[in-house]
Amino acid sequence: MSHASNVPVLAIDGPSGSGKGTISALVAERLGWRLLDSGALYRAVGYAAGMAGLDLSDMDAMARCAQTTKIQFRAAADGGPTRVIVNGHDATDELRTETAGAAASAIASMPPVREALVALQLGFRKMPGLVADGRDMGTVIFPDAPYKVFLTASAAERAKRRYKQLKEKGLNVTLGGLQREIEARDSRDASRAVAPLKPAADAVQVDTTGMSIDDVVAKVLAVVQP
Ligand code: DC
Repeated sequence: MSHASNVPVLAIDGPSGSGKGTISALVAERLGWRLLDSGALYRAVGYAAGMAGLDLSDMDAMARCAQTTKIQFRAAADGGPTRVIVNGHDATDELRTETAGAAASAIASMPPVREALVALQLGFRKMPGLVADGRDMGTVIFPDAPYKVFLTASAAERAKRRYKQLKEKGLNVTLGGLQREIEARDSRDASRAVAPLKPAADAVQVDTTGMSIDDVVAKVLAVVQP
């Protein structure tokens, strides 16, 4: 068996709504590599804590919750998005909500919560390669990744994308409200003491504002296959 450090990793970091999730999934498919959606882990812990009626500001309780929550990714039978199973319950839809995102962002600022999820994330590094989607993939979890991309887009553009996604799901949201939530989450993720959202020094930065998905995929693939 090969040592994990020989397994290539493409770290794709960036703020919410930068297109990371979509781009990471498409690039992983094109490369035939595995995919780690690290945001889903924080969302799953926040969700499990909510289901258990725990206080999201209680760091000890959140650390225990991160250590004990069972999170599984399962390919969808219909070829749709990967299902996320939290403590045996398919929570895929609940995890995509803004409430789950805000809970994830809050608990993600707690060092013991982040620590509890490290081993799980490292375990995804398997041949033939891994596309790792998150905030700290290139800086903290896989600092030795040979390929690093930092995706950005203006807050207005990110709010527009999210608005479209949520409206398609029939959810009642406003564009202004979403933009304010996105800006608040960005500043919390960027200003926290541990693993703040910031590009790795050796990351290729791509501003996706106004770019099509195909163009972004091509640009990211070119980092791995110049
Ligand atoms: O990528 P996402 O929107 O699913 O992430 C949800 C929250 O989880 C985000 O606000 C910050 C946190 N997160 C993190 O701190 N580190 C990661 N690697 C991924 C997500």
